[in-house]
Amino acid sequence: MNSFKDKVAVVTGGASGVGRCLAQQLAADGAKVIITDINAEKLASVAAELTADRPSGTIEGIASDVTKEESVQGLADTVFAKYGRVDMLFNNAGVGLADMRSPFWDLPTKDWVWGFGVHVMGPVHGIKAFVPRMIEQDGEGFVVNTTSGNGALHSITNTPIYASSKAALTSLTEVLYGQLKEKAPHIKVGILFPGPRLVNTGLLDSPRPDEYRDPANPLPKGVAMSDLAQRMGGVEMTEPEDVAAYCLECVKKDQFWMLHPESSLDGFEARAASLRERRNP
Ligand SMILES: NC(=O)c1ccc[n+]([C@@H]2O[C@H](COP(=O)([O-])OP(=O)(O)OC[C@H]3O[C@@H](n4cnc5c(N)ncnc54)[C@H](O)[C@@H]3O)[C@@H](O)[C@H]2O)c1
Repeated sequence: MNSFKDKVAVVTGGASGVGRCLAQQLAADGAKVIITDINAEKLASVAAELTADRPSGTIEGIASDVTKEESVQGLADTVFAKYGRVDMLFNNAGVGLADMRSPFWDLPTKDWVWGFGVHVMGPVHGIKAFVPRMIEQDGEGFVVNTTSGNGALHSITNTPIYASSKAALTSLTEVLYGQLKEKAPHIKVGILFPGPRLVNTGLLDSPRPDEYRDPANPLPKGVAMSDLAQRMGGVEMTEPEDVAAYCLECVKKDQFWMLHPESSLDGFEARAASLRERRNP
């Protein structure tokens, strides 16, 4: 896709972090952007704020919850009715689960349902609601799913839900790529690894709906990603603007693996060697 001018783009999790920056940069390049988020209040203020920048495209906020199929189908119906088409879908919404607070076996089932609901079923709902109608359109389309090196390359063992849900998302994105390449090659697919370092967003203070709270298992207070970077000895961070810019550069180049060249592959190489040599991890 050479240009975003007049293209219609839907960005989930668009009220914060990487999603907000994707929306801002797409609209600056002339796209008509629909941002969606579970946090309706923040979504409205971000849409107004980005519109006040006078982008050459447009930005509209429509609230939805990616864990709920009917909510995403309703979003798709509203967008297709108003804009007539969708050229790009960014399945970007994600949550920090505080899943390092207990061992795997003590984490509440509600946490697993939430994590897999947002990271796996969220993109599945997005693909089911948007892709069939994108296939029927003329012209190129693009679907970007946002994974993480944690799960996609190797799994950090103290984040069982985050890592395993991103691993599942990575697999389903590779499958989607293969099927679309064969059956509808005008719809391209990419998988984004935000990075190359920790990205300075609100991911560790995600809004957790009451249905995913377990009173018997109290949660730590949410923190900014920059606090985590401080606790890790002041490690360098990546800004979400840079992640969005790299992602859009990859969309223009039709690049599937949206993995920044400076991202570490050490964990991935160690995992591959362990598997190849039948050596325990
Ligand atoms: N920040 C990092 O270091 C990092 C690293 C690797 C991957 N990621 C991934 O990048 C993506 C963007 O996250 P971010 O870092 O910008 O975090 P963020 O918290 O700033 O943004 C995520 C947005 O998703 C929204 N969201 C959460 N649940 C939702 C739901 N059910 N329906 C709709 N929206 C929902 C949140 O309200 C929030 O606005 C996520 O998929 C995340 O897993 C982030």
